[in-house]
Amino acid sequence: MKIGLFTDCHYCNGGLGGGRDAKASFDKTKIAMEEFKKQGVDICFCLGDLTDNGQEDTKETVADCFVKITELIRSYGIPYYLVPGNHDYLIVKADELTELIDFKIPPYTVKTDKCNFIVLDANYRSNMERYDYAGVVWTDSNLPPEQVEFLRQELDSSDKDCIVLVHENLDPYVHPWHIIKNTDEVRNIIKESGKVRMVIQGHYHAGAERIIDSTPYLTLPAMCEHKEDYFKIIEI
Ligand SMILES: [Fe+2]
Repeated sequence: MKIGLFTDCHYCNGGLGGGRDAKASFDKTKIAMEEFKKQGVDICFCLGDLTDNGQEDTKETVADCFVKITELIRSYGIPYYLVPGNHDYLIVKADELTELIDFKIPPYTVKTDKCNFIVLDANYRSNMERYDYAGVVWTDSNLPPEQVEFLRQELDSSDKDCIVLVHENLDPYVHPWHIIKNTDEVRNIIKESGKVRMVIQGHYHAGAERIIDSTPYLTLPAMCEHKEDYFKIIEI
């Protein structure tokens, strides 16, 4: 089974600072999807921050960007899921995204013959309110108790290997601002289950790869900041 991955496109009409090329992400996504198609990828995920709210952007222009880039991705006919990132909740709410692009609100599990993909959402502040309602504080990321329990149950009941996907970082060795506050608790569940084949994340734009408790923790490099290696195909 081949899995196509990319993250942190930050696609929008307006300008972004910090060396982020928002507009180039449209063509980069196209290049990634063409390669996924060519290589027979079975399923693909964006690990979040698909869009952004740049200077001069409005809710309408951001919504338009969500639609344009999602239509591009779906035009290749490969099953696709968006793992939401903090920037995806800046101006459009999750329910509105569902209306707009048929966004599936986590947590949920995509079950396949080969493995179960557990998709989580850590875009919650310490008071456990989600960013789209509470306002984004990107340094205050938490996996709420319901999702911790969901993860535990999904792992308990799974008869297959699992892959855990979440935008913010469970890897405790990236820059501390990027790390999910209750990562220790979540990593412990992953370790105890013995069923997690890999943890895949975005958010930390430099990217990182680490083995923790015998499990690979992959943080994909951000598409908007990299001219190479801005997508990945893994085979399981
Ligand atoms: Fe990002």
